[in-house]
Amino acid sequence: MSEPRQILVTSALPYANGSIHLGHMVEYVQTDMWVRFQKHRGNQCIYVCADDAHGSAIMLRAEKEGITPEQLIANVQLEHSGDFADFLVEFDNFHSTHAEENRELSSLIYRRLRDAGHIATRSITQYFDPEKQMFLADRFIKGTCPKCGTEDQYGDNCEKCGATYAPTDLKNPKSAISGATPVLKDSQHFFFKLPDFQAMLQTWTRSGTLQDAVANKIAEWLDSGLQEWDISRDAPYFGFEIPDEPGKYFYVWLDAPIGYMASFKNLCARRPELDFDAFWGKDSSAELYHFIGKDIVNFHALFWPAMLEGAGYRKPTGINVHGYLTVNGQKMSKSRGTFIKARTYLDHLSPEYLRYYYAAKLGKGVDDLDLNLEDFVQKVNSDLVGKVVNIASRCAGFIHKGNAGVLVAGNAAPELTEAFLAATPSIAEAYEARDFARAMREIMGLADRANAWIADKAPWSLAKQEGKQDEVQAVCAVGINLFRQLIIFLKPVLPLLAADAEAFLNVAPLTWNDHASLLANHQLNEFKPLMTRIDPVKVQAMTDASKEDLAASQTDTGSAASTGNGELAKDPLSAEIDFDTFAAVDLRVALILKAEAVEGADKLLRLTLDIGDEQRNVFSGIKSAYPNPAELEGRLTMMIANLKPRKMRFGISEGMVMAAGPGGEEIYLLSPDTGAKPGQRIK
Ligand code: MSP
Ligand code: ZN
Repeated sequence: MSEPRQILVTSALPYANGSIHLGHMVEYVQTDMWVRFQKHRGNQCIYVCADDAHGSAIMLRAEKEGITPEQLIANVQLEHSGDFADFLVEFDNFHSTHAEENRELSSLIYRRLRDAGHIATRSITQYFDPEKQMFLADRFIKGTCPKCGTEDQYGDNCEKCGATYAPTDLKNPKSAISGATPVLKDSQHFFFKLPDFQAMLQTWTRSGTLQDAVANKIAEWLDSGLQEWDISRDAPYFGFEIPDEPGKYFYVWLDAPIGYMASFKNLCARRPELDFDAFWGKDSSAELYHFIGKDIVNFHALFWPAMLEGAGYRKPTGINVHGYLTVNGQKMSKSRGTFIKARTYLDHLSPEYLRYYYAAKLGKGVDDLDLNLEDFVQKVNSDLVGKVVNIASRCAGFIHKGNAGVLVAGNAAPELTEAFLAATPSIAEAYEARDFARAMREIMGLADRANAWIADKAPWSLAKQEGKQDEVQAVCAVGINLFRQLIIFLKPVLPLLAADAEAFLNVAPLTWNDHASLLANHQLNEFKPLMTRIDPVKVQAMTDASKEDLAASQTDTGSAASTGNGELAKDPLSAEIDFDTFAAVDLRVALILKAEAVEGADKLLRLTLDIGDEQRNVFSGIKSAYPNPAELEGRLTMMIANLKPRKMRFGISEGMVMAAGPGGEEIYLLSPDTGAKPGQRIK
């Protein structure tokens, strides 16, 4: 074995102004599985995180609740820590950005940047709320869209027509905080001179630190030229005051990533074997990885390495970016009950079900991943209960009944045992590359082989035959040993199942290298059911509860708060789609019950479609090809049934029918062969 590696790992710091939801959990579960894998392999791996506690949103929320921001963030930190612990996310430290270590490090880094000439100052003009006496960020200004005239739009973009603009372009602007009409006011701002680091970033972002799709996106930004980054905000602001600049505060995103260092520093004080400089010093030989979502790439792959470089610290070894969570193929939604808080999930279901499902869906790329609740139930039940746990429950009884719980020596399936051992490097490689989906596929492939072998030997039939007791014991010993191997593979994903399995197997905590050995002449403990099936009723109860507990709250989005650069999130990173994305499209056979022209629209037909369990209203631009719409009635076609409903001038369109052709009279509605029934899914 090579020397153990020294690895420091972080997940993005969740905002301290809201609850953790299942979208967040994609990140924390992914990171935790990777960290557990590293520890399992004997590496020194430290996992730190913190609450991101600064910014005007937190200040305003505290004000609304009539508490201090300090009280608010303390409450939220307790809530967040509890959620993470119950999802088995095991941080070495969960700190806060509003902490002394962070104030010191932020000041130090700022001073070093300033003294090296990387800070510029200039005056900028912004809207100011004369009642609240504060400058207004774009999202705190509302007004009428200058393009389409829709009222009540945010200061940077229109939700109706999609136009983007400066807040000063809005007609009739109002402060979203006080309702007052904002006035323009000048103020001195501080800028981090990102362009100073263009050359370094060009090299660094192409040096294996980023996934290809991310590096390509960054290259576009680099090619179009970097801008200086505004790192200051005026009082009142909840954050750290800028050294030597009274009334000026660090913008939350300046001190947030420094929070990674601060959390580690705080841990060093408790763990004397850890040396801050050994991890963060310019010549550090330790590895440093940040796990983040695709919406915050610019902060981590541009600003952050530049800040570190400018202040004389080491840069990250890698930025590991993941995609966004959708539920049942759509953005999480309160009204559908799919905006599920971590706590609401935990009230109904075991954390390991979701950890396994995420593992099975998470590749090494930046694709979004879908939590399809039906598939979730089916996959967890079939893989974990039906395949893995099943092996132990099939074999344990015979060993207890026939041999007083003693697993016999010998190996009745050397080839199979060898195949498990031979798969180890490949599974380790998949974990290392964060290709959890591949690791899970390979592990379940092995579980299938183990089950097939046991089914073939059929110890339950042998047990009924005279003189076959030795064979029964030999078969079940293999079964339990293979089960043990599977548990070793799955331990980073399913730590509770692993602990229960270790208790049953009567062994010390398993580590990756235990693969090399087999149990022989070994006393087992009593077998207790290791995992129960997911009852779909509980999933329903969870979505019902989500509808209720979110009805009262304000946010209605699965996305992170505005980052100032959501570009990557909106931009598809590749033209190819993977199988899961394809599988997320709900294609169905639809019966056209009714087809009629829409008054006031030259191109549209209104279609009433029967898709088996429900009827849908769909507007389709096919009138030019079907001037007598009634002829379509009674005909079968195909529709995309899980397209996000779209509000149109004439009503809501609930999906899309599929047609081919260049347009005009040449539009051909697709139809299935005769025999297809409405509602059947297209696979
Ligand atoms: N506070 C910043 C991060 C600062 S890091 C120095 C932030 N916080 S967040 O709470 O909005 O998001 C925390 C992490 O969760 C981010 O990496 C974000 O991408 C991720 N996710 C938030 N919603 C998500 C989904 N719906 N799906 C997957 N990941 C999501 O950003
Ligand atoms: Zn508009």
